[in-house]
Amino acid sequence: MGTFYGRSLCVIDDLSQEERLYLFEHARILKSAFETQDEAVLNRYRIDDPDFGIYEVFLEDSTRTKESFRNAAKFHHAKVSDLNSGSSSFNKGESYADTFYTLSGYSNTIFIVRSKVEGVCTYLEESLTSYARRNGLKRKPAFINAGDGKHEHPTQELLDEFTFLEDNNWSTETLHLALVGDLYHGRTVHSKADGLKIFKNVTVDLIAPPELAMPETYLHKMKDHGFTVRTFDSIDAYLKETVIAPKWYFTRPQLERMGDKVLKKEAELRRAITFREELIPLLPLNTKFYHPLPRHKAHPTIPTFLDETPLNGWERQSINGMYVRIVLLALIAGKIGGEFVSARPPVVEEEDYIKEVNLEDRVPQEKRISEGVQPIHDGIVIDHILRGYEIGEIRDHMRLISSVLELDRGKGGEWVSSGQQGIHKGIIFRPGSYELDRKHLKRLAAVAPGSTLNLIKDGKVQRKFRLSLPPRIYNFEDLGCTNEACISHPSQEEGVMARFYRTQENTFACAYCGKEHGFKEIWKRSRK
Ligand code: CP
Repeated sequence: MGTFYGRSLCVIDDLSQEERLYLFEHARILKSAFETQDEAVLNRYRIDDPDFGIYEVFLEDSTRTKESFRNAAKFHHAKVSDLNSGSSSFNKGESYADTFYTLSGYSNTIFIVRSKVEGVCTYLEESLTSYARRNGLKRKPAFINAGDGKHEHPTQELLDEFTFLEDNNWSTETLHLALVGDLYHGRTVHSKADGLKIFKNVTVDLIAPPELAMPETYLHKMKDHGFTVRTFDSIDAYLKETVIAPKWYFTRPQLERMGDKVLKKEAELRRAITFREELIPLLPLNTKFYHPLPRHKAHPTIPTFLDETPLNGWERQSINGMYVRIVLLALIAGKIGGEFVSARPPVVEEEDYIKEVNLEDRVPQEKRISEGVQPIHDGIVIDHILRGYEIGEIRDHMRLISSVLELDRGKGGEWVSSGQQGIHKGIIFRPGSYELDRKHLKRLAAVAPGSTLNLIKDGKVQRKFRLSLPPRIYNFEDLGCTNEACISHPSQEEGVMARFYRTQENTFACAYCGKEHGFKEIWKRSRK
C-alpha cells in the first residue's frame, strides 16, 4: 500500500519534504487532468469505494477547508459524513476520545478535524491506536488536522506551498516571502515555520505590529532551519527597504481575541497591515499576493479593488485547495503512492543525558567545603544548580527541585555558594538514606540541567552523575503544558498527560501544541 497508507497529518512536518514534493507532483497532474477533463487520469486518483468513510468534524466555522474536503471526498465516490457539532454529545461533556472511539466504530477511515483545542489530532492519533487494537478494527483511522486553535493548519500549508511552487516555475531553489497580518494568532503562518523547509534558500519578512508578532516558538524554528528572518512593524516601514519580497501572504487580524486594551488600538493595528492603492508602485515587478481567506468584508487587508489586478494569487490558491486535498486523501487511502520510497531517516544516536563520572579517573582535589555546607556522612548532594543565575532565582529553583524530587521533607538544607569570581550556584544537601533510580535521575536532569548529583556513603562520594537536559520528558503526572488551549492542559479536562521534547534552543516543546517552555515551567508545581 505504500508509506502514506493510513497516515495522519497533525502538523505539516508529519509529511517529510520529499513526501510533500511527491504529493505536489500528483496535485499538478490532477489539476491538469481537471482542466482537460481527462477522465482516465482522474480515475487513477479515485478511491472509488462508497463504503470508504471520510468524516468531517468541524467544531469551528469553515467554508474552504470543509467544502474543499467535502468536494474532494465526493470526487473519490466515498462515504462522506459530517458531525453536527451543535447538537452532538460534545455539548453533554463527552470527551474527544469517546467521541472519536464512537465514530471510528462506524466504519470511518479518515477524520478531518477542526477545533479550538490545540494538538487534538496528535492525541487522537495516539489514543485511537489502542482503541483499534482492543476492538479488532481492520485499520486505525487517520486524522487530518483542519486547523487547531492558533497552532497549525497543515492542509492549508500544503496548498500554499503548492501555489508558491506553481508561481516559482516549480523550483524549490529560493523563496522570498512576506508574511503580513496577525502572525500571533494565525495558524496558517505558524505552519510555515516547518513548511517552507521544502525551499533551499528562504527569506521570510514578518510584517506585524508588536501586538500581533510571530510567537517565539515559530521564530526559533525558522532560524533553526536557516531561514533569513527580518521583522517590520508595518507595511509602510517594510516598503522603505530596498529589497522587497515578490510574494506576500496576508492573514486575517483576529483582534476580537485580544481584549479591550488592544481593541482601543484597533484602527492603528489594522492600518499597519492593510494594503493601500498608493503603495502599488513600490512593489517589485510580478508581485503576487496570497491569503488563506476568509477576508473580512468590512476590513479586508487585501482591498477588493485588487481582485482584478495581476497581484491576485489568492483565488487560484483557494482553488488549488481541492486538488491538493484530493491527492492527500488518495495517498492516505493507499490509492496512489505505492511506488514511493522514502529516504531512510538518519539514525539519531540516543544520547546519554545522565553521565556517571568515573571517580577512579578523577585527579584528587584538595578537600573544599563550600561555606556553610556541613559535610555529610551518608546522603546526597546536588551541586552546580543554576550556576551563574541570580541568588533569588537559585533559591526559588532549589525549592522546586526539592519538591519535584520529593526531598522537601528530609533533613539537610539548601545553600547558595558565591564560588569563584562571584558566580553563584545552588547546593542541596540531604543526609540520610536515599534510593534514586533512573526515573529520579531523569526528573533531576529535566529540572536541574547542568547539576551534579553526589551519592555519599561513609563520608565519601561513592557515585557521581553529571546531568543535562533529556531529549524527551513524559509519563510524569506533575508535568503540564502552560497553554490553556492545549489538549493536555488540565482545564481541557481530557485527561491527557503532558509530554515534551527538547528543542535546539534547549527548551521543552509540548508534544501536542508545540509551545516552548523553559525547564522550570514544565512542572505544574512551579505555578503554585
Ligand atoms: N483557509 C481556511 O482555513 O478557510 P476556512 O476557515 O474557510 O476553512
